[in-house]
Amino acid sequence: MKISIVYWSGTGNTEAMAKLIQEGAVSAGAEVVLKEVAKADVADVANVDVAFLGCPSMGSEELEEGEFAPFISSIEGQVSGKKLALFGSYGWGDGQWMRDWEERMKKAGAVLVAESLIVNEAPAGDDIEKCKSFGKSVA
Ligand SMILES: Cc1cc2nc3c(=O)[nH]c(=O)nc-3n(C[C@H](O)[C@H](O)[C@H](O)COP(=O)(O)O)c2cc1C
Repeated sequence: MKISIVYWSGTGNTEAMAKLIQEGAVSAGAEVVLKEVAKADVADVANVDVAFLGCPSMGSEELEEGEFAPFISSIEGQVSGKKLALFGSYGWGDGQWMRDWEERMKKAGAVLVAESLIVNEAPAGDDIEKCKSFGKSVA
């Protein structure tokens, strides 16, 4: 199975999640490409079996506006029927950014193949295993 993991991370927390997800997916035998969103394009979603997309809660419960939000806008017209799994880190909120993002992707016709994974700040303790099994179960 071909998997891509595309993420944005300002202080490394979502990046740490991405690497753990990669570890889990690789352990399940998947072929995984991990990319920062600045280096990704629509092919990273279109040409894989499942794309993991990761972005922390920024702004006021929003996707990061400089790189990640434009990427989502660029793929939005092409994700109908595509399998996606969403993840990201947050701080003080209750996960509203993720609920809004899920809604947006579903409206675009994407199939969310797993319950989205959110982690408070840096993954630690149980979060480590949760990230790995998120990758493993989807793969
Ligand atoms: C400019 C800015 C805006 C943020 N807005 C929110 C927010 O609305 N809700 C929230 O829960 N956390 C918010 N956070 C906290 C980040 O989501 C949190 O620190 C996260 O772990 C950052 O992930 P990263 O290390 O991958 O960048 C914000 C952080 C920054 C720097």
